[in-house]
Amino acid sequence: MPYRSDFPLLVANPALHYLDSAASAQKPKVVLDAIRDFYETSYANPHRGAYSLSSLATARYHSARQRIAEFLGAVDFEALIFTRGTTEALNLLATALSVSNIRSGDEIVVTALEHHSNFVTWQQAALATGARFRICEMTSDGRVDMDVLEGMLNTRTRVVAFGHVSNALGTVNPVSEIVRLVRERSDATIICDGAQGAPHIRVDFDKLGVDAYAFSGHKMGGPMGLGGLVARRKLLERIPPYQFGGDMIEFVEDQSSTWAPLPHKFEAGTPNAAGAVGLAAAVDYLDGIGMERVQAHEKALVALAQSRLEALDGVTTYGPPAAERSGVLSFNVDDVHAHDLATILDSTGVCIRSGHHCAQPLMRRLGVPATARASFYIYNDESDVDALVAGVKQASTLFAGTIAGN
Ligand code: ALA
Repeated sequence: MPYRSDFPLLVANPALHYLDSAASAQKPKVVLDAIRDFYETSYANPHRGAYSLSSLATARYHSARQRIAEFLGAVDFEALIFTRGTTEALNLLATALSVSNIRSGDEIVVTALEHHSNFVTWQQAALATGARFRICEMTSDGRVDMDVLEGMLNTRTRVVAFGHVSNALGTVNPVSEIVRLVRERSDATIICDGAQGAPHIRVDFDKLGVDAYAFSGHKMGGPMGLGGLVARRKLLERIPPYQFGGDMIEFVEDQSSTWAPLPHKFEAGTPNAAGAVGLAAAVDYLDGIGMERVQAHEKALVALAQSRLEALDGVTTYGPPAAERSGVLSFNVDDVHAHDLATILDSTGVCIRSGHHCAQPLMRRLGVPATARASFYIYNDESDVDALVAGVKQASTLFAGTIAGN
């Protein structure tokens, strides 16, 4: 079983079929070991102490930032800002840009595929600034409609925010093509939500052309509570800090303050250094496998799952063909609510997510309140697809009594 033996939770639960990695990935032992080692050998508050233990903690935090920036293809590692995850990274950008850059009459463009963290954030930024919030519609198979996007872009477009990969459908968006269209027609700041991209696809930030790329460590084998963004230095130097407090200041006068250089300007308070050390171990682990292999493995599994589920009567799948998606498969079964399906699958040891996947605008466009979603990662194999298909058949039989094929 590929890589499953590297994951203690999966080893301890051999009958478990974990198909919810788009929500959060399991952790390899090397990540757990790295976090423990940090606490046992190097723990103190980074940047605070003149004593050598604090210097050691600072050095490990610093190396983790360099390593993660390298993994994401960002040479300028000081322009990697740690946050709690993608959601906070996108809130940072939306809040700071609202204060400094977005004015009434400007336009903010998102797509109908977005997760709420890259949708509500910009919707609220538009409401706060008086900008116009525009939603680029998708094609019937769940891709960004590039013709529609092209028609929406103009000199008033101030921000374009879109996901690298749809969390609900797995659609891999054509980032370079979107960047080309935006650059031709506007001088908008381009923000990419990479929560579902970075764990699965090699990211080369410096070549991608976007201004900022947000990511979550917990979806790529790292610990919860640590993610961030990589951005162009010019953008981060132009926008104001998002939070105020210790470690992010240069001088504090009675009536004004100035800010520390990057990355500290955006990292107020005690950092999650242990999280960064854990995520650095996770990216070492992923690089050890090779992101191309990670992607190919998921693609093969999702293609298999899609073809086997589509062969069942009463199953509808959503999104583009398997070859054009990441390791995510959204589907519904006639007469079975997605939550019931997830509960029945759980009783057979299969973990999937059901619901709107924090993408209600997308669900409205699909015309469904919810879908079932199976998502694959490096520790999954064909036995997980077998269990998924068997569970779907069982649920369908239980609710409708009629499912044939496969
Ligand atoms: N954003 C995560 C998901 O898609 C939680 O499930």
